[in-house]
Amino acid sequence: MNRMMTLVAFLQAQNCSNLPGSWRHPSTMLDFTTPEYYQRIARTLEDGKIQLAFFDDRLALPDLYTGHHAEAIGAGVRAVKMDPSTILMAMGMATQKLGLGTTYSTTYYEPYHVARVFATMDLMLKGRVAWNIVTSLNSAEALNFGQASHMEHDARYDRADEFMEVVMGHWNTWEDDALILDKAGQFADPAKVHRLDHVGANFKSRGPFSVPRSPQGHPVLIQAGQSGRGQAFAAHWAELVFVIYHNLEAGKQQYAAFKNAVAAAGRDPSQVHIAPACYVIVGGSEDEAQAKRAIIEESARPVDALVLISEVLNYDFGAKGYDEPFSDEELAGFSWHGFRERVVQFSGKKNPTVRDFVEVSGRGTIAEHMVFCGTPKSVADQMEEWFVAPACDGFVLAATHMPGSYEDAVRLVVPELQRRGLFQREYRGNTLRENLGLDIPRATDWHQKRKAAQ
Ligand SMILES: Cc1cc2nc3c(=O)[nH]c(=O)nc-3n(C[C@H](O)[C@H](O)[C@H](O)COP(=O)(O)O)c2cc1C
Repeated sequence: MNRMMTLVAFLQAQNCSNLPGSWRHPSTMLDFTTPEYYQRIARTLEDGKIQLAFFDDRLALPDLYTGHHAEAIGAGVRAVKMDPSTILMAMGMATQKLGLGTTYSTTYYEPYHVARVFATMDLMLKGRVAWNIVTSLNSAEALNFGQASHMEHDARYDRADEFMEVVMGHWNTWEDDALILDKAGQFADPAKVHRLDHVGANFKSRGPFSVPRSPQGHPVLIQAGQSGRGQAFAAHWAELVFVIYHNLEAGKQQYAAFKNAVAAAGRDPSQVHIAPACYVIVGGSEDEAQAKRAIIEESARPVDALVLISEVLNYDFGAKGYDEPFSDEELAGFSWHGFRERVVQFSGKKNPTVRDFVEVSGRGTIAEHMVFCGTPKSVADQMEEWFVAPACDGFVLAATHMPGSYEDAVRLVVPELQRRGLFQREYRGNTLRENLGLDIPRATDWHQKRKAAQ
C-alpha cells in the first residue's frame, strides 16, 4: 500500500483554538461550553476520515504576563480551560471511527490515575484513544497543584520516564486473554494478571491494575518535546510525535535526525509518525483564500503573543524592555527549550530580545506554524511537497476559526489528497492503531522484554 498521510485535528477545550484571535473571527461559533460544539466538530472530522482529533491542555490560565490574569481574561487568550478527557467522551459518543486523544501531564498527575482514566476511555471508545504525554510548562500550573515552583526541565523528563514505566506496567497487567468469563468456573486467570510492585525515585505504585486491555492493547502514545532531552524521551516512548518545523529544509533535517534517533533507541522508525503543526486556509480561488487569510490576520492583537510566550517560557515578558536582550541566565531558565532554541537559531542572536521572540516564533499568530494557503489544489501541492520530501508523515491541522477551519479542510482539501492517493478514503479499521498503521501490542511481549532487560 502507498504511504498515506496521518491527519490530526488540533483541538482545544477552551474559548479559542491555539490561535487566540480565533474566538474573534466573524464566523467562529462561541458555544464552546456545550457538548454540541465538540460533537459537531467530531462528526465533520469523521466525515473526512481524519484519523485523530487531539486536545492540547495546560493546567492553568496563562497569567504569567504582567503577573495577573486580567490581560488573558480581558483579551480571551485561552481564558477558559475545561478538562479535555470528559469532552473526549462526548465526542466519542457522536462518532464510531474517529481517534480521540488528549493531553495529560506527568508532572502534576499520578501515574495510576492517568493509567486508569485512559484505559477506561480506551474501553469505552473501543480502542480509539491516544494520550499526549506532556511534562507541563509553568509555575501557574505548579501553584494550582500545591507546589511552589515548576520542576526543572530535565528533572521533569526523568520523572516522565519513570511515570511511563508505571503507566505501561499497569496497562500490561492484564494479558490479552486473561478474561475467561466462565460463570460456572473462573472469571479470569489469576496467572495472567501481573501485579506491578513499582518502587522508584519518584513513584511507588503496587497494583494490580484494575482495568483489562482494550481492543488496541493500550492507548496510542503521543509526545511533542523537541529539546535534546525531549527527543530522547519521544524516541523511546512515542508513537506519534508533534513538532513545529520552521521551514521545509529544517523539517527535512529534523525529520531524518529524529527517525535515526528512533532506530538508535531500538525501535522501528515506521512505527513512529511525525506530524508538524500547520494552518490550512483554503478558498475556491487564490483571491478568496487570500481574503480569508486577511480576516484571520486581522483577528490577532499584540497582547496575544505576549500572554502566550510568557506562558510557555514561564517568564513575564511584560517585565522586560521590548528590545532588551535576555541574559544567558534568563534564557537558561526558560521552560520550553525547543521553543527557545528555535528563536536563538533563526534570529541568529545568542541573546534574543522580546521582539525576536515575538517575531521569530510568530506565537499568537498564524505565523507560528506553517501556513498552507490557496486553492484546494495548491494547498494539496504544498502538503504533498512536505510529505514526499520527506519532512513528515502527516500534519496536525490547527484551526483559524471554529468549526469552519475543520470544515474547509474536510470538504475542500481532503478530497484532493484522496484523489492523489495521499490520504485514506475509508477508515482502515475500528481502532486508532489500525487507522494509523500501528501494530497492536501484546502484554506478553511487554513482560518478555522486561524480563530480557533484567
Ligand atoms: C503540536 C504541539 C502540541 C503541544 N501541546 C502541548 C500541550 O497540550 N500541553 C503542554 O504542556 N505542552 C504542549 N506542547 C509542548 C510540548 O509538549 C513540550 O512541553 C515542549 O515542546 C517543551 O519540550 P522541550 O523543552 O523538550 O522542547 C505541545 C507542542 C507541540 C509542538
